[in-house]
Amino acid sequence: MNFVKHYVRANMMQRATAKDIMEEFSNELAMIRGKCIDIGSGPGDITKELLLPRLQPDVIVVGSDISQYMTDYGNINYAEDKRLSFIVLDIETTELSSEENGQYDFAVSFSCLHWCQDMRRVFGNIYKLLRPNGRALVEFIAHHGAFECYYKLKRNAQYEPYMQDVDRYIPYFQNCKNPRESLRKILDNTGFKIIHCSQREATFTFESKEILREHILAVNPFVSRMPDDIKDKFIDDLTEDIILHQIVRPHKMKQQTQEPENQTITLDRYYTLLVYVKRPRSAPLCIKCNTNI
Ligand SMILES: C[S@@+](CC[C@H](N)C(=O)[O-])C[C@H]1O[C@@H](n2cnc3c(N)ncnc32)[C@H](O)[C@@H]1O
Repeated sequence: MNFVKHYVRANMMQRATAKDIMEEFSNELAMIRGKCIDIGSGPGDITKELLLPRLQPDVIVVGSDISQYMTDYGNINYAEDKRLSFIVLDIETTELSSEENGQYDFAVSFSCLHWCQDMRRVFGNIYKLLRPNGRALVEFIAHHGAFECYYKLKRNAQYEPYMQDVDRYIPYFQNCKNPRESLRKILDNTGFKIIHCSQREATFTFESKEILREHILAVNPFVSRMPDDIKDKFIDDLTEDIILHQIVRPHKMKQQTQEPENQTITLDRYYTLLVYVKRPRSAPLCIKCNTNI
């Protein structure tokens, strides 16, 4: 996900999701004291514009992301002296730096963890980042039909060489029968006290095909590897295929004024997981095996 500027323009779905969750958990966010980390903060716009205003003015926020492009963008465009900065951090790392261990009173993460494969390690790392009594509010995609389209496009000989590692980009819970139960087990085994854990059906309306296409481009892991002459066709094919699995209907307001392809709206339906957990005061995590001791 290195299309930083595309992402800032096309992240309306993630923005709406983060806004809803922050509203729902506004009391919990307002109670945060000390230091808060945003995991997978992307370019930092949501951290700065939506998260920061909900926190007490003396809470220090660190945005973190696996992508240096993202954190550079955040540091240039959104950092605030002392209050907000951005660091590179892979939340799936096997070697969480000792500097980060136990540094945070709160962790948030929105629309990020479906990029990760080893959920035990991810939640083990979130546990380690937190101080005893620290809390985490985390949301990510459990299942989205768009990921099935990756497999279909991989069967196309033109695209196949650039999609060899497609499984790496399928969310951990995509084919899981009971994502909520599986996630609860992971959280329990990690040592968290679960305050809330739900699977939710989510929808977002894309007001035109062009907007949907921008969104798909901004979060696509394959297109940056492709030669220029097939990039556009790939995104067009993917967009068409995704639309086939969504609810599409005419956009009444735009039928007179827009190009035919932008006269429809697409209702995107998918499933998310939302957790709110606490690292208990006792039961530290064994650094070697990632389980409680
Ligand atoms: C869809 S964006 C979400 C950004 C922001 N949280 C938002 O709601 O708009 C997902 C972000 O997760 C980051 N990401 C992916 N894998 C990650 C990992 N293992 N550790 C940290 N960040 C990761 C990506 O680089 C990307 O910036």
